[in-house]
Amino acid sequence: MALGAAVALSSCAGTSEQAAPLVIANGEQIIDTEGNPVNCHGGGFLTVGDTTYWYGEQRPSRMSSPQLGVSCYSTTDFKNWTNRGIVLPVSEDAAEGLTPGCIVERPKVIYNDKTGKYVLWFHHELPGRGYEAAHCGVAVSDTPTGPFTLLHSTRANAGQYPINFPDSLHGKHAGVDFDNLEWWTPEWQQMVDEGLFVDRDLEGGQMSRDMTLYVDEDGKAYHIYSSEENLTLQIAELTDDYTAHTGKYIRIFPGGHNEAPTIFKRDGEYWMITSGCTGWAPNKARMMHASDIMGEWTMMEDTPFTGEGADTTFGGQGTYIVEIGGQPVFVADIWKPENLKDSRTLWLPIEFGEDGVPTIPYVANYEIKR
Ligand code: DGJ
Repeated sequence: MALGAAVALSSCAGTSEQAAPLVIANGEQIIDTEGNPVNCHGGGFLTVGDTTYWYGEQRPSRMSSPQLGVSCYSTTDFKNWTNRGIVLPVSEDAAEGLTPGCIVERPKVIYNDKTGKYVLWFHHELPGRGYEAAHCGVAVSDTPTGPFTLLHSTRANAGQYPINFPDSLHGKHAGVDFDNLEWWTPEWQQMVDEGLFVDRDLEGGQMSRDMTLYVDEDGKAYHIYSSEENLTLQIAELTDDYTAHTGKYIRIFPGGHNEAPTIFKRDGEYWMITSGCTGWAPNKARMMHASDIMGEWTMMEDTPFTGEGADTTFGGQGTYIVEIGGQPVFVADIWKPENLKDSRTLWLPIEFGEDGVPTIPYVANYEIKR
């Protein structure tokens, strides 16, 4: 079994009984157990027993080449990753536009206790339409390593208004001439705030781009996604089988331009870390918190990242917060748009001050907690 190149066994002293610390060198290529670079980007993690699965975007080296689908790797120590192949393939005969030329981004998998199914959600763009479709795709499998079967690819919550959206604003923008609308003016900002795009997309469903999933302690699951032309985040409750929206959702920070949502919960408080919207280029991350996931969210004044490089999230953009050895770890992509396949990963343990507020300093080497 080949050792991951990015993961060095530390030579520091310890008794022979103590396991030597395992270290991931941030930003270096992670090599799988067959000696190939791990190709798993914008992804998420799911732990089943003592095995953790890493699902992500399989990326070709050239933007013009088609994506193959959702890749999966497994590990028992976050050090040695075994390639489990493409668990949701893009193919010529796939349904719902999961066909060559489509875009598959930010896949996340959760397990549903009631149905015994693994449920995969992803941001899906249809072939030849750039980022305009803004769909969420949903697929299921009986095993964590697939193959996953696509159930549907649609926009979100068609026909429903957010539950935190006043009745008085329903339909307010129904007659707007979108072809001649000037963006970024104060009037436009106010219209966005008051649901311009919620109204526009009411019938066909809300746009759903960058996304994550969250399963709460009570078993309820949520889909968190950049909506309304990436201007506003929405949080939607999922049905008991996790394969669809219930129609109950909220919008938060209208016009706030948040992408790449990542979330965790600590001592009853939900913490979400997002990026701004600058394409593949890194930017200053934001952090917000709430005591009710479908309630009021408060934006922190500053990014949780500290030290040199904090203003660009150390070159990364968040993709998931995974618990490793009892500690939440912020996992981010260092995108390489000229060769997305070669994009790298940042692993940054989240620390907490006495006030319980998360902070994230840079570490060149992440020592895997066990
Ligand atoms: C930023 C998003 O976070 C990425 O997932 C990807 O959609 C790029 N934009 C595309 O420019």
